[in-house]
Amino acid sequence: MQYLTLNNGIKMPILGFGVYQIPPEDTEQAVLDAISAGYRLIDTAQSYFNEKEVGEAIGKCGVPREELFITTKVWIENYGYDKCKSSVLESLEKLGLDYIDLVLLHQPFADYYGAYKALEELYEDGIIKAIGVSNFYPDRLTDICLFGRKIIPAINQVEINPFNAQYPAQANMEKNGVQISAWAPFGEGKDNIFTNDTLVGIGEKHNKTVAQVILRWLLQRSIVVLSKSTHKERMEENIDVFDFVLDEEDMLEIMNLDKSESLFFNHQDPEVVELFNDLVGAIKKQMHNEK
Ligand SMILES: NC(=O)c1ccc[n+]([C@@H]2O[C@H](COP(=O)([O-])OP(=O)(O)OC[C@H]3O[C@@H](n4cnc5c(N)ncnc54)[C@H](OP(=O)(O)O)[C@@H]3O)[C@@H](O)[C@H]2O)c1
Repeated sequence: MQYLTLNNGIKMPILGFGVYQIPPEDTEQAVLDAISAGYRLIDTAQSYFNEKEVGEAIGKCGVPREELFITTKVWIENYGYDKCKSSVLESLEKLGLDYIDLVLLHQPFADYYGAYKALEELYEDGIIKAIGVSNFYPDRLTDICLFGRKIIPAINQVEINPFNAQYPAQANMEKNGVQISAWAPFGEGKDNIFTNDTLVGIGEKHNKTVAQVILRWLLQRSIVVLSKSTHKERMEENIDVFDFVLDEEDMLEIMNLDKSESLFFNHQDPEVVELFNDLVGAIKKQMHNEK
């Protein structure tokens, strides 16, 4: 595994395993499989409803805590100073940990200023080792870096895949001293990504799969990347990316696939903001039922 050093000196694995859309009943086994395949970075979120099961796997995996890097994210419903603080303490309890390596604000909506202040205090108390944001595109990221608070986010986790390559966002993060991280590197399989001719061709050249080519392309851009699979053989395939190098021509060919459009939703579209507002209501109900 390779590591990157974040802007506060903390080391983070460059490749990780995400548990979005893994049902709670399958999460413990998936995380145990991922850790046994060699993953040390596990990415969950309050809104994935599987923090407890991630914690159970951490407790059983046999790998020392300090070798693992655990990320969770605060959902919009828990934004604002007080709610954010108590929700992170709740996440800590669900995960069965006495510290969390990285906590992100999941979305750039609602009272993210108050929530970020709470993260800063938890960071100063040593309960969180690094703090950051997710889905903060250049306008919002610059806002939080300039006007936000005392601490520059260590990470900004955004959608990145060959069809939405995020070169301008990466340049903006570099300018602000924020490490870029990729979610949905395979675009969750959308737009026939796994059979794309260019990616298949590059894979054949290196005797690697499309998934491995995509992950390698991200690693060579110094991006912390998270992928998800519930199949152990795919987890192993997706971590077997440190023994080959894409050349300049490969990198350029992949660059040409970029359409600079999200495969999911554009966070800067007002209708998407409305959608998130509706989601808050739905997730609030689910969180209430969980208690
Ligand atoms: N911050 C955010 O807003 C945000 C949003 C989305 C995701 N994330 C994080 O990023 C992680 C990864 O993103 P994602 O889960 O949305 O999507 P992804 O990793 O791009 O795609 C996952 C899909 O690809 C399939 N897959 C995985 N490896 C494969 C392989 N080698 N060959 C063929 N198919 C393969 C999986 O199927 P199987 O499971 O059936 O193998 C699954 O359907 C998430 O789990 C989460 O931790 C964050």
